[in-house]
Amino acid sequence: MSTELFEQLEFVENPLFETIIEDLLQQHYSVVEHFFSSSEVIALRNNLLLKYEEDRFRKSGIGNHLHQEIDKSIRGDFILWIDETKADPVEQLFFKKIDSLVQYLNKTCFLGILQQEFHYAVYPKGAFYKRHLDTFQNDDRRKLSLVCYLNEDPWPKENGGELTLYLEEGEKEIVPLPGRVVIFESQLLEHEVKLVKDSERLSITGWFKTR
Ligand code: OGA
Ligand code: MN
Repeated sequence: MSTELFEQLEFVENPLFETIIEDLLQQHYSVVEHFFSSSEVIALRNNLLLKYEEDRFRKSGIGNHLHQEIDKSIRGDFILWIDETKADPVEQLFFKKIDSLVQYLNKTCFLGILQQEFHYAVYPKGAFYKRHLDTFQNDDRRKLSLVCYLNEDPWPKENGGELTLYLEEGEKEIVPLPGRVVIFESQLLEHEVKLVKDSERLSITGWFKTR
């Protein structure tokens, strides 16, 4: 049997990933419910909170690694980058699912994703992130943005903290419900995190990058 044929036989269609791809092609974003199960969300949230209490987060900046600025009038969250080579068991579980999505995207859409970067984020009460694009002026390797919400259940609407996507047809508000994952085209969609009014807003955010 030729290797080509073997690869084809090996490929198993994944309905969830197919929906994500279809959404991205049609509307440049996809919202997935229960990408992570509630027990996975709890494990990831506890992991985040442990590191947050250890004071390992730092004030987020704007711009890339070479040109970082801290400007609270633009964004007020605290972040901790995840070192994948030192991932703990909970993070390994996270990356297992993420990696299978990347493999699928590369295989079916020839996206050529070669790198990824993820950080935890905490938006304390009063924090927001003003309208922006996820690409930098001197670096356009970020192709897809992915946000995974780790908030407590329920997240009442009055808490704010919605992710607003600015689409051609208008604004799309996405409530940061636990287990929900949002994926969108980094170079195309401007977006914003609305003011968090009450409890802390918790997430993991990351980017799939080409070379
Ligand atoms: C970001 C961002 C969106 C969100 O970190 O760049 O836009 O919903 N996050 O947390
Ligand atoms: Mn963003």
